Amino acid sequence: MTQKPLHIGMTLAPTWLSGEGWRRPDSGIEGLLGHDYYIDIARRAEAAKLDFVFRPDVLAVNKAMMGQGGGMGGLDPTLLLAAIAHATDRIGLLTTVSTTFYPPYILARMIMSLHWLSKGRAGWNIVTALDGQRNFSLDDMPTPEDRYARAAEVTEIVLKLWASYPRDAILQDRDSGRMVDPELVQPINYEGDFHRVEGPLGTPNMGGGDYRIPLIQAGASETGRDFAARVADATFASTPNMEVAIELRRDLRRRAKAHGRGEEAVRLMPGMSLYLADTEAEARDLYRATHARADDTRKFANILEMTGLDLSDWPKERHIRANDLPPPPAKVRSRTHAGLLRRAIERHEPTVGDLLRMPEVMGSAHWQVIGTVAQAVDEVRRWRDAGALDGFILFPGGSVDCMHLCLDALCPALSDAGLLRRDYHGTTFASHLERP
Ligand SMILES: Cc1cc2nc3c(=O)[nH]c(=O)nc-3n(C[C@H](O)[C@H](O)[C@H](O)COP(=O)(O)O)c2cc1C
Repeated sequence: MTQKPLHIGMTLAPTWLSGEGWRRPDSGIEGLLGHDYYIDIARRAEAAKLDFVFRPDVLAVNKAMMGQGGGMGGLDPTLLLAAIAHATDRIGLLTTVSTTFYPPYILARMIMSLHWLSKGRAGWNIVTALDGQRNFSLDDMPTPEDRYARAAEVTEIVLKLWASYPRDAILQDRDSGRMVDPELVQPINYEGDFHRVEGPLGTPNMGGGDYRIPLIQAGASETGRDFAARVADATFASTPNMEVAIELRRDLRRRAKAHGRGEEAVRLMPGMSLYLADTEAEARDLYRATHARADDTRKFANILEMTGLDLSDWPKERHIRANDLPPPPAKVRSRTHAGLLRRAIERHEPTVGDLLRMPEVMGSAHWQVIGTVAQAVDEVRRWRDAGALDGFILFPGGSVDCMHLCLDALCPALSDAGLLRRDYHGTTFASHLERP
């Protein structure tokens, strides 16, 4: 069992403004399209010695969700992180870029540019995306298998492009007049099933070791797990309970070994949704107030999409039995989330009313803690001791106060408990992942 301090990241998706959170007088919602709002958060996260700040991304607008507080769209994640790079020194900057929609040359150049601008702090969250196809000249979303085949190819090309212009090639020797050694800059001449890329990349590499760019992956279907086990430094996961996390972590470690990597090569980092307040009762009030207008119609539609089960006219007190579930639909937006929901129904056979309140239906199926800072520390320790995680990503909910409590109170308490580093030992994102 590992007792090393955990690797902790902080979301820059303003989850504390979702639901009713944005309507609070101090929400600062007006600042969301500028950089000051995020720089303040990144500096707090850096003061707390977190591994990274992280910006998820989608390449489509969900009009049905945006009316009342389901998100209003926002800035390009890599550009936003470039602005944050300028205002911070140590914290890792994890951007999200889809392998389904971005050409690999653009992707490789964009992330390596963020890496230079941040002096070695860029990371890439590799996603295969859930929708957005009609913004990229496609009628239908490619199948999950097709998306993962693209992800494997795009990742391979990006790694080759990064290697195609090694840092050693830069000479900048005024005396000899040699700026670059062109012999070291080589094309990649890649011909795959989806892309043809000659290379080399026009942006030099910063180097290996502490200067390599960490790869994070999200998506926990069989194919997603295997992809993570082959290439990723960490998996960002939806694990609504500890058993799911333990199973996923064990499986990832086994798969990493089978791919000839160390079993600690892929770290499991669940999302952690937090509603924190000074007392547990206040935290529960915060949770209730945040979801006061939550719409059952949309939840029923999600349950139907993910399981094929239409519960809209079921009484709230009726239990859903495992054998009420029809065979899984052939096509779902996210196999990971559909699988989690199915598993929750099979395991708990909840009433309709209870199901509507479960994390698998309420949000992104993340691990949820509603309570005080001390309770959150205990919960983190419990998961760590059970071998359920190597770190996690903070998703505060409900209010700016809760977000501040996460960064300014919970993180120092985790350091005091030996669960989070007290100081950085390096200056790059890779160095934070490698060393406690
Ligand atoms: C925890 C988690 C976070 C994700 N974040 C994003 C995201 O920010 N942007 C995106 O386009 N897709 C995101 N995805 C979608 C995945 O990249 C992937 O497309 C999806 O989960 C389907 O893969 P699967 O078949 O392995 O479930 C996320 C998935 C999970 C599980």
